[in-house]
Amino acid sequence: MQTNLAVLDRENVPSDLHHRESEINELTEALVNYHPKRSARLVSIFGPSGSGKTTLAKYFTRRFNEQSRPLKTGYTNCIDDKTPTQILQTLLRETGIRPATQPRSTARCLGELENVTDPILITIDEIGYLREPEFIKSLSRIGGIGVILIAMEEHEVLLRMPHEVRSRVQSAPTIRLSRYTQSQIEDILWGRIELALPEGFVTRPAVREMARHADGDAYVAIALLRECANSIDLYYHDKIDRELVDDVKDSVPLARNERDIEHLGTHPHLLYDIIKHDEPIKAGDLRRKYEAEASDPRGDRMRRVYLGELMRYNMITKDGRGLGTRYRTKAE
Ligand SMILES: Nc1ncnc2c1ncn2[C@@H]1O[C@H](COP(=O)(O)OP(=O)(O)O)[C@@H](O)[C@H]1O
Ligand SMILES: [Mg+2]
Repeated sequence: MQTNLAVLDRENVPSDLHHRESEINELTEALVNYHPKRSARLVSIFGPSGSGKTTLAKYFTRRFNEQSRPLKTGYTNCIDDKTPTQILQTLLRETGIRPATQPRSTARCLGELENVTDPILITIDEIGYLREPEFIKSLSRIGGIGVILIAMEEHEVLLRMPHEVRSRVQSAPTIRLSRYTQSQIEDILWGRIELALPEGFVTRPAVREMARHADGDAYVAIALLRECANSIDLYYHDKIDRELVDDVKDSVPLARNERDIEHLGTHPHLLYDIIKHDEPIKAGDLRRKYEAEASDPRGDRMRRVYLGELMRYNMITKDGRGLGTRYRTKAE
């Protein structure tokens, strides 16, 4: 059987991006056709999990790469508890501006970016986790570079930013993605099926059911397809039909959580583990345990940021207020 299951991998950037044409045009307008001299070209992308934010940025970057030369592109994700210097160092490495050793201060990293005359396009993903958003202001002053900022929750992320950064981001073009519709998810699935599996191997009712289960989240849809393809032998099936999807789908609803746990930074991960171990846990107890267990505990503000992100990812919930606040994981 001819298969190409690699296109179902989590990190695969699709060769065809479905139903995001107008967003690609918006990115082109903001990043390619617009040429401010004294400041960066900035765009932000907001939208729920699985709405294709990361994929849109990476797909666009690949296109940018094909069209404008010489060029420098880089991607970084803030989820792993990075400082501005670490973020900039990753970008300097990714863009190839400083592939080996990077400067040790934020100011020097910014200086390196400033000195480059080739077109630069960088993406900073999951900025909801950004510890010190101030450096975005300095970044946005570098003439000629393109910057894509990505987060799930627009309002909360903006509220946490210092005033000047917020107004800079608010005045830049913003792309707001919504969850995909049932038929859009079906199209995304068919696009991937054509590349991954032989013709006739997946039935229409199966695709409909996968899309229904995914409920607008392309990540869950593709994870379910991958799981079906991997389970074929296990269930003695010779194709992916509705029955197989029914057998497999309950092992995938967790996927969204599993993915998020896997991708969490050290501190959100630790908070999640403490809550899971002791739920329901009082806010004060959580703080004490966190401070005792973390090797380099973050302050109140960042702890609230992490807890807010965990709630937004539907991984934990909060009951009560003030001293009576208790946290628990969503699963139970
Ligand atoms: N428009 C699309 N066309 C094809 N595949 C898509 C599309 N949008 C998302 N995907 C796929 O869905 C998955 C989740 O997308 P992702 O960009 O990670 O979502 P987000 O960053 O918003 O959580 C990825 O595997 C991606 O390849
Ligand atoms: Mg993403």
